[in-house]
Amino acid sequence: MVATSMEQLVSLCKRRGFIFQNSDIYGGLQGVYDYGPLGVELKNNLKAAWWRAMVYERDDIEGLDSAILTNQKVLHYSGHEDTFSDPMTDCRKCKSRFRADHIKDGKCPNCGSTDLTEPRPFNLMFKTNIGPVDDGANFGYLRPETAQAIFTQFKNVVDSTSRKLPFGIAQIGKSFRNEITPRNFIFRVREFEQAELEYFVMPGEDEKWHEIWKEERIRWWEEQGLKRENINIYTTPKDDLAHYAKACYDIEYQFPHGMEELEGIANHTDYDLGNHTKAQDEMNLTSECHKNSDSTQKLCIMDDNNKWVIPFVIEPSMGVDRGVLAVMTEAYTEEDLGEGNSRIVLKLKKHLAPIKVAVIPLKKNNEQIMNKCREIKNNLLKLGIGRVALENTGNIGKAYRRHDEVGTPLCITVDFETIEQQPESVTIRDRDTMQQTRVKVADLKDYLRNYFAE
Ligand code: GAP
Repeated sequence: MVATSMEQLVSLCKRRGFIFQNSDIYGGLQGVYDYGPLGVELKNNLKAAWWRAMVYERDDIEGLDSAILTNQKVLHYSGHEDTFSDPMTDCRKCKSRFRADHIKDGKCPNCGSTDLTEPRPFNLMFKTNIGPVDDGANFGYLRPETAQAIFTQFKNVVDSTSRKLPFGIAQIGKSFRNEITPRNFIFRVREFEQAELEYFVMPGEDEKWHEIWKEERIRWWEEQGLKRENINIYTTPKDDLAHYAKACYDIEYQFPHGMEELEGIANHTDYDLGNHTKAQDEMNLTSECHKNSDSTQKLCIMDDNNKWVIPFVIEPSMGVDRGVLAVMTEAYTEEDLGEGNSRIVLKLKKHLAPIKVAVIPLKKNNEQIMNKCREIKNNLLKLGIGRVALENTGNIGKAYRRHDEVGTPLCITVDFETIEQQPESVTIRDRDTMQQTRVKVADLKDYLRNYFAE
């Protein structure tokens, strides 16, 4: 059963250490969350899966890790200073503020009053003072997307890697948006992570690549465990497209609060590279760009006929936090075990599981058993499969239950037979089937190598 309520997930996340409210002891900071001991593992695993698919498994994509603090001019010429805003409405009665497009039937979502102000644009960027002088002139922004630095570093990447079209630049990192109404747990927050690819193509080949990336990204999400029937592809109507986009697909997912955007895949044309290019008039751009950019560079590339072109760009841009919420939603399962027993299992894909294997002693504080547990753990770590956790609880039933809830695929139990009988053996319990198999300690590494390679 897929999770139906956000409450179930929020409760599991807090109880088992996935996600906590930021600044909790001071009442929290709205729209800001911290990832706990297991959440950081899950999020890192999701990011690693994206990076592997984008950068390691392909030969046409390079990586980048740019700064969060951004020069004001970058976000001026990208259009964010002028257009990166949501319509905001105030309730005159209770003084609450809302995104105008989130208001239903003209009523304040807080008090129900219809006495609302006209919507006005509210810029979502966090402006910050840079340097010791606070005179209002020395400011920059926390980036609202990771993409802009990919455009501004385009020439450096091309020159240092000798890339030809088509090729991409991938980046994962924090983005910041002063959302008017953050909500739905980690779905809409003010500080979040994005994994963005800018895939540069010859003008004219953009529509073909847009389709290719749509299919590729659906395939990738399915590999992360999302069922196709819980995914919807929304094609943005022409009239609703962002000013820079020629076309856009949203990959939507059936979150507990509804079918909503998980990733956007936009055809950006030559808009961004064009905006950050000096003397655009010479460049024969198809898009409407800022004229007279202060940029010192022409962000272009040589085609096969030795002609300079500004590439078009296809941009698959996913929210990492929304990804975490989606894979948890899909994996959350309540199972009826009969006779009044039930269990919660997080049926995460193995590569996403925060803990890969738990090594559990049958008896707490037994020196001999614990030493064997430690030896097994240290041996398994060498496989490089991720986190192998060592328990010392002595209550096998409780340990299994806890590891089911956090999605640990395998539990290894070390018992008296392990240390008293030759050849040494342990019990391996499978999270999903709950089946237990006796495996020789000498065969453990091969067993797990095969299991995690599948
Ligand atoms: N560079 C393109 C771009 O930033 P976007 O549709 O504004 O496009 C891309 O954002 C993705 O980032 C979204 O599909 C969503 O997954 C994630 N995202 C955007 N705003 C977010 C927020 N306030 N909280 C969490 N994730 C967010």
